[in-house]
Amino acid sequence: MSDKKVSVEFVEDVALICIDNPPVNASGVAVRQGLVAALSEIKEAGRTKAIGLYCAGRTFVAGADITEFGKPPLEPLLPDVCNNLEDFETPIVAVIHGTAMGGGLETAMGCHARVAVPTAKVGLPEVLLGVLPGAGGTQRAPRLSGIPNALDLILSGRHVPAKEALEMGLIDRIEEGSIREVALAAARNVILGKLPTRRTCDLVTPRDDAALEAAMAMVQKKHPHLISPQKCVEAVAASVGDFKQGLATERAAFMACLPSAQSKGLIHAFFGERAVANIPEKKAQARDVAVVGVIGGGTMGSGIATSALMAGLSVTLIEVTQEALDRGVATISANLDGAVKRGKMSDAKRDAALGRLTASTDMMTLADADLVIEAVFEKMEIKKDIFAKLDGICKEGAILASNTSYLDINEIAAVTKRPADVLGLHFFSPAHIMKLLEVVVGTQTAPEVVATGFALAKTMRKVAVRAGVCDGFIGNRILGHYLKAASYLVLDGAHPYQVDNALERFGFAMGPHRVGDLAGLDIGYMTRKRLAPSRPTEERYGGAIADQLSENGWNGRKTGKGYYVYDGRETHENPDLNVILDAERTKAGGAPRAFSDDDIVDRYMTAMISEAARVVEDGIALRPVDVDVVFLMGYGFPRFRGGPLHYADTIGAAALVERIESYAKEDAHYWQVPALLQQMAESGRTFADMNKGR
Ligand code: 3HC
Repeated sequence: MSDKKVSVEFVEDVALICIDNPPVNASGVAVRQGLVAALSEIKEAGRTKAIGLYCAGRTFVAGADITEFGKPPLEPLLPDVCNNLEDFETPIVAVIHGTAMGGGLETAMGCHARVAVPTAKVGLPEVLLGVLPGAGGTQRAPRLSGIPNALDLILSGRHVPAKEALEMGLIDRIEEGSIREVALAAARNVILGKLPTRRTCDLVTPRDDAALEAAMAMVQKKHPHLISPQKCVEAVAASVGDFKQGLATERAAFMACLPSAQSKGLIHAFFGERAVANIPEKKAQARDVAVVGVIGGGTMGSGIATSALMAGLSVTLIEVTQEALDRGVATISANLDGAVKRGKMSDAKRDAALGRLTASTDMMTLADADLVIEAVFEKMEIKKDIFAKLDGICKEGAILASNTSYLDINEIAAVTKRPADVLGLHFFSPAHIMKLLEVVVGTQTAPEVVATGFALAKTMRKVAVRAGVCDGFIGNRILGHYLKAASYLVLDGAHPYQVDNALERFGFAMGPHRVGDLAGLDIGYMTRKRLAPSRPTEERYGGAIADQLSENGWNGRKTGKGYYVYDGRETHENPDLNVILDAERTKAGGAPRAFSDDDIVDRYMTAMISEAARVVEDGIALRPVDVDVVFLMGYGFPRFRGGPLHYADTIGAAALVERIESYAKEDAHYWQVPALLQQMAESGRTFADMNKGR
């Protein structure tokens, strides 16, 4: 077998160029060199009248090879390859299947015509990686499809189905058939004059200043933190005019984005979401899951049931009373209606999903379930009772999962005769929307049971992260720690609104007080009560202000009042908050002081990083990247910062240790240097180093 990434096949007066670079035909240096060599070979052969360019395997080129980003560029560069294709004297038709993304679509747009199979999708998702189309995409897409379509494509990064791409003018035709045959027929049609060809660079972008202005205003409002969306608009604007100058503008914008910390953060997030699937149990055979039992029809249970139904699974929902069961079914039904409204499923699919739902107050109906997820109140005694019952009811080989957010899976497993079949599946609310699933592995959980948890996540289109057992697992354990830092900041004088605003400016979708109001302040209140007996005497208590809000019945959004006041869709300041702040600060005894926004962010992030480092050190997370993905997918962490431990590397372990030591002068119990961070500061090792090869 040849190890060539690009081959040429001559069929009479047609040449077929085939790119074969699994898994996704990314255009790394070997592909780029191969394309240039293929053009030379065809030129030398001299008899070709039309060329079909297609890919082997599952997809057309999925983009530039992202692993080459940040390394010294290797020639030929992709923009030059696209120009070479466009300049070539013999017409070239690109034939697309799978996903032609980024540099892939740019390669196709450099050709003289484009044909796609009906299932193909195209897109320019570079903005999601903190860059912009850098191989002519910002110049060729507006020439082919107009400025509004090009802006939509480039700013959203969405995958556009073939039919829509045809309407947009990005492709010329949709043809069915095996990809090589379609390529051959397309090239023959070019020769017969049945498929017109032209150079994209010769087209003129119709002016549309209004669309450009609107897009610039939108990105400045929606993505104030990000560099690349603005650069995208600037580059598209340059497509009105000279093509070569436009390419130069695009190149300069691309090179401005590529080395940015934002792009590095977004690329870390891209690879991170895939890296978390690399678990010790990845070779184990997942068990088949067709019927899922869900115990509990509250918000969480209904969300999980909705997610399973949307994934095509059958669900048996269990509640204690008929009334609660009816409420659960109504919530599921409303969730599915919402999915229809958001365009996530058709009416027919919603009806079919509801048809796969069985609701019962009798746990015996779970006898046939392949996997049961318990999602009831967070009380160990209740969970143990349920698991003991399930153990007696469920068939052999059925997996028993708890959706607990922090309780000990080993203790739950111990009440069953099948601890190897027990694990934690920690969903995030709303479970039919949030993409994170923590798969909590107990000491006795069997490898195939872990693999089944990961397979279930994939079926539900979620990202699974493997977590060990401890109070709160990865996410909630770290959250519990840094929320204390936020509460100390407020007790010591920072206003909750200042804390929220500072962190929102840093990039969080919502500051911790807004999140608290949204989740319900009673949740934190109950957790603090639960943990009170085990709270070390040296620990400073930071919960007094939040306790007072809850004791007043102000539990956040659902009660209309919390840190903020809610009036329909509007949020206002709570006029009674300052009285509580003053009273609790006086009780705490310290003199309130001012904190700068930077100081707030530094303390909050250092607290988060400290506990994240301990979670890695304790083996609760397999690698630093697992922590990053949990926070990106489940806790609104700004994606462009790559996650807490990716961000930690940008500060450096030595600087973090220094910060902790200085904060420790105020509170030596809370601010302790994690051993791992200390070792890293001494050895120069980074979290990125720990991600490698694991
Ligand atoms: N470069 C390098 N590796 C890539 C890659 C790329 N562009 N795209 C995907 N991969 C890798 C993945 O990391 C994964 O590796 P792993 O198996 O070791 O984890 C493997 O290919 C398979 O990828 P997926 O698991 O994501 O496969 P799917 O079938 O689920 O999805 C896809 C396929 C939709 C193409 C998806 O991989 C994707 O969205 N890729 C990125 C597309 C993209 O962003 N393209 C633009 C790149 S930047 C660019 O082109 C710049 C240019 O303008 C100059």
